[in-house]
Amino acid sequence: MHIVVCKDYEEMSRRAAEIVAEQIKKRPDGLISFPGGDTPLGMVHVFADMVNEGKVDISRTHYVSLDEWVGLSNEDEGSCGLFNQQNLLSRLQHPFAGTHIINGAAEDIESERVALNDYISQYGPLDVSVLGIGMNGHLGFNENGVDFDLDAHIIPLSETTLKVMTKYFGEKFHPTQGISQGIRQIMAAKTVILIANGAHKAEILKKAVHGPVTNEVPASVLQNHPNCYVVADEAAAALL
Ligand code: PGA
Repeated sequence: MHIVVCKDYEEMSRRAAEIVAEQIKKRPDGLISFPGGDTPLGMVHVFADMVNEGKVDISRTHYVSLDEWVGLSNEDEGSCGLFNQQNLLSRLQHPFAGTHIINGAAEDIESERVALNDYISQYGPLDVSVLGIGMNGHLGFNENGVDFDLDAHIIPLSETTLKVMTKYFGEKFHPTQGISQGIRQIMAAKTVILIANGAHKAEILKKAVHGPVTNEVPASVLQNHPNCYVVADEAAAALL
């Protein structure tokens, strides 16, 4: 793992966006994926600015979202789809070659799962997978105990995620499941970038980076990835 310690959130966001851009320059026709959430907000904005300023050309690059709350569409506040739409896609003055944003409100969620696998098979494997880390060590909705061999899947939300989720949409929605890229697809990415900020992430980040590789801390699987960057601010990196 390449550990990159940044002085604050802004530097973490900029550094992560720069690594994504470097990879796209090497392989302009690859497939990339960003997470939703609080952590990636700054990175996504910096990345969109880089595209708009002509610093990176995404005209041949495809984009796929990482995960979604089952039941939420990309019009619902707090959904990963809306995050993607508002913070990335609508900001871009030069679009991706193609995008696939998971629809958690699809009537047939199984077909949505298959469509996610199909998109990654068609344009992948992922060139760059950017990930946040949950308070329980989840990656996307690969929750504690997840099977590392899965591709896209639908999974019950863990207790920790059920507690944390109100920060995204209050009491308005009560999802119980997530739909997510699987660990197998994440581990097949040529470059993985795990981003984390804030003292509240220090303990779980330490477990992911230095603890045993176990599906009880899904992010620990990244210790086995040949090209994984951990880009963290000083507070999140304090115990590394
Ligand atoms: P956060 O979520 O970026 O909002 O902290 C991270 C995650 O749960 O993956």
